[in-house]
Amino acid sequence: MALRKLVAGNWKMNGTLAALAELDGIAAAAAENGGVDVAICPPFTLIAPAVARAPSLAIGAQDCHGQAKGAHTGCISAPMLVETGAKLAIVGHSERRADQHETDAEVRAKASAAIAAGLVAIVCVGETEAQRDAGEAEAVVASQLDGSIPGEGTGVSLVVAYEPVWAIGTGRTPSTGDVAAMHAAIRAKLTALLGAEGAKVRILYGGSVKPDNAKELLAVADVDGALVGGASLTAAQFVPIIEGAVAASA
Ligand code: PGA
Repeated sequence: MALRKLVAGNWKMNGTLAALAELDGIAAAAAENGGVDVAICPPFTLIAPAVARAPSLAIGAQDCHGQAKGAHTGCISAPMLVETGAKLAIVGHSERRADQHETDAEVRAKASAAIAAGLVAIVCVGETEAQRDAGEAEAVVASQLDGSIPGEGTGVSLVVAYEPVWAIGTGRTPSTGDVAAMHAAIRAKLTALLGAEGAKVRILYGGSVKPDNAKELLAVADVDGALVGGASLTAAQFVPIIEGAVAASA
């Protein structure tokens, strides 16, 4: 089943107000390419101004807390994000799993909190290079999915992003055969976990998606979109990726 593709940009800890000028071209391209969904996840501080500048574009966050409120200094909850106009939240990105030591259980709590607040949760999974070299990639990802996918997730409320850690920010990508094998394994696992809804959950590929490889990666079976880091920071790089997703959908 071909699902409608989602191209989501993850700005990470990049961007001040001046960066929002890039949204003009991205929003225009999203409007022109109505066959795919487009989202940008800027830093928390830019969510509300991004919504104001590009009201037609889906704006998301890069994290949220697993609880709605409480004594958690410095954290941001999903209901707070909803109030800013955010529509999505990335949770469990490998940089947070590494830097903030987030566990699968925490990632699942964050995804559940996002869904309960009405956000789309993008749950990230992916193996390290050592794990791939050891032949453990599919087992590692299966275990992450077992631990971090919320059972209430549906094709509307949940998205999974497969991001091999060794491909993030490196300019390296897996072969299309390896992407196909992993996405097929993720699809089987989602169906096992979520039943019929598991067939409707979009599975994004992430890790060094660029204008010159987007169409090829997005044409792979069960690749229902892309999570894009560095190349989402400018319209000049991100718009061709949106167009690549459209071409791959045809
Ligand atoms: P990259 O990052 O596109 O810069 O490799 C992807 C991500 O971490 O989401």
